[in-house]
Amino acid sequence: MLALSFLRLLLLATAGLAAPSRRATISSVPASVLAQLLPQGQQQLVAPTDTPSFVTLGVGNQNYTCSSSGNYTSTGAVVQVFDVAPLSPSSEFSKIEEDAFAAWTAHPCDNPYEQNLAQEFQAKFNVSVSGQHYFIANPDGSLAPVWDFRTDGPTKGNPGAIVVAAVAGDIPSPTGPPNVDWVELTNVSGKLASTVFRVNTVAGDPPPSCQPGSPDIQVKFTCKYFLYGSQV
Ligand SMILES: *[C@@H]1O[C@H](CO)[C@@H](O)[C@H](O)[C@H]1NC(C)=O
Ligand SMILES: *[C@@H]1O[C@H](CO)[C@@H](O)[C@H](O)[C@H]1NC(C)=O
Ligand SMILES: *[C@@H]1O[C@H](CO)[C@@H](O)[C@H](O)[C@H]1NC(C)=O
Ligand SMILES: *[C@@H]1O[C@H](CO)[C@@H](O)[C@H](O)[C@H]1NC(C)=O
Repeated sequence: MLALSFLRLLLLATAGLAAPSRRATISSVPASVLAQLLPQGQQQLVAPTDTPSFVTLGVGNQNYTCSSSGNYTSTGAVVQVFDVAPLSPSSEFSKIEEDAFAAWTAHPCDNPYEQNLAQEFQAKFNVSVSGQHYFIANPDGSLAPVWDFRTDGPTKGNPGAIVVAAVAGDIPSPTGPPNVDWVELTNVSGKLASTVFRVNTVAGDPPPSCQPGSPDIQVKFTCKYFLYGSQV
C-alpha cells in the first residue's frame, strides 16, 4: 500500500520533471485544427506547425465611422475573449462562434465587457474569460490591435500577458459577407503571442454605404482567435 503510493508519487514527480518548460498557457488543441480551418489554395494565412498557446472565442463589436465619401471605415473593435480550448474537439467547439453570436445578438446589452454576459456564457457554454481585445492609437493616429490577458484567466496578474499586433495577411471570410475578413497578425510588442489569427468570423461587416455626417455605428460579431508563441 505504502509502496504503491510512493510509486505513484514518484511517477507524478517524474511526469512533472519530464516537461519542465511546458507553460500553463499552452492549449490542449492540436496544431492541425487551424490548418484544417484555413481555406486551401490561399497563401495569405499560414497555420503554424506548433500547438496554439490559446484558442479563444471573441464576442464583441466592430466600430465604424461614416467617411466623407459615404462608406464606413473601421475605428477598431471592442471584444470580450473567452477560452474555448477546453471545448475542443467537441462538436460545440466547431460551431461555438455561431451559438455565441445567437446569444450575443439576443443579449439586451451592447457592451461585451458587461459582467452579465460573462456569467451567461459561463452558464450556457461553460467558457470563462481569458481577456480582452481592443485597439490603441499609434503615435501617428492609426489604430493597433491589442490582446490583453492581464486581468483574467490563467494569466491574471501577469504584466507581460499582452500583445500589440499588426496585420500580416488578410483573406475574405470563406463564408462570405457579412462576416469580417480572416486575418493573420504578428507581434509588434508584448509577450502574450508571436502570431494571432482571427478566423470563423460571424457578422461584423458594416452596411455598404452611409450618409456622410451620420453617427458612428457598432456592429456585433463573433469569431475565434488562435494565439501562438506565447512567452508568458
Ligand atoms: C466603440 O463604440 C462604442 C459605442 O459607440 C463606444 O462606447 C466605444 O468607445 C467604441 N470603441 C472604440 C475603440 O472606438
Ligand atoms: C470608401 O470609398 C473610398 C472612395 O470611393 C474608397 O477609396 C475606400 O476604399 C472605401 N473604403 C472602404 C472601407 O470601403
Ligand atoms: C466545464 O469546463 C471545465 C474545463 O474548463 C471542465 O473541467 C468541466 O468538466 C466542464 N463542465 C461541464 C459541465 O462540462
Ligand atoms: C514581441 O516583440 C517584442 C519586440 O520585438 C519582443 O521583445 C517579444 O519577445 C515578442 N514576443 C513574442 C511572444 O514573440
